[in-house]
Amino acid sequence: MLCTAGHVVYGCSTIYMMEFIFDEPRYAATRESRLRNLFRHLDARSLAGKRILEVGCGTGELGQAFVEAGCQVVSLDARPEYIRELQRRFPGREAYTVDLEQWNPETLGPFDALLCFGLLYHVSTPEPLLAACARLAPEIYLETVVTDSHEPVCPLVCEEGADQAYSGQGCRPSFAWLLQTLDRLGFSVRDISGADANWGGMCPSVFDWTPLNDGQWSRGGGLLRKMLICSRQHTPNIA
Ligand SMILES: C[S@@+](CC[C@H](N)C(=O)[O-])C[C@H]1O[C@@H](n2cnc3c(N)ncnc32)[C@H](O)[C@@H]1O
Repeated sequence: MLCTAGHVVYGCSTIYMMEFIFDEPRYAATRESRLRNLFRHLDARSLAGKRILEVGCGTGELGQAFVEAGCQVVSLDARPEYIRELQRRFPGREAYTVDLEQWNPETLGPFDALLCFGLLYHVSTPEPLLAACARLAPEIYLETVVTDSHEPVCPLVCEEGADQAYSGQGCRPSFAWLLQTLDRLGFSVRDISGADANWGGMCPSVFDWTPLNDGQWSRGGGLLRKMLICSRQHTPNIA
């Protein structure tokens, strides 16, 4: 199901009252806290004029924060409904329907930075996705659910839902897995996970969690997450 509400048809014309999952108050809270945390760690003045790629954009609200900071944003999502709605909400925004598990990043050209929030754990092929991101931009703003493990693990999970894995299978990388993979790709990692990014409500998430090495990705009803600024340092160590 893609929308939480339907549409009303009057005669021959359709008056849409679409309320997408991203319009639910809980989503607004997730965006507010994550953007607050990210922008606290970025120099907002240096963003103007930058070319940003937003992957797993939904209806594009996170990317719009970068548009408002003066960036040129290109947005991608697997679900055409979201891309159509993004373009209706934000006329003139460049956005494409792309399954990021079947993706040729070369077609899009280079970017200054890549916004990968809320997507990585919704793919079953996280390493190729990160490798594609790493080829496209020297800086990656990455936010994902993680497994609490000291080992570099990345278990696969089944998912269903309007904002979940398009393929039906997601993953839950550990922080150690992210560090190892990003290092192989030539990226250093600055962990900016902090309480500022947490949100509560019906589907809470916590960034300032204490590691217990228990192999879980949720605790006390809240998902465990990380937010990272990843910067290209050297040539990748993988083909
Ligand atoms: C949890 S939502 C996150 C939306 C937004 N980035 C945010 O963080 O608020 C995940 C998004 O990723 C998209 N997605 C899931 N699997 C995908 C895939 N294989 N390729 C492209 N987009 C995908 C979903 O359609 C959805 O819009």
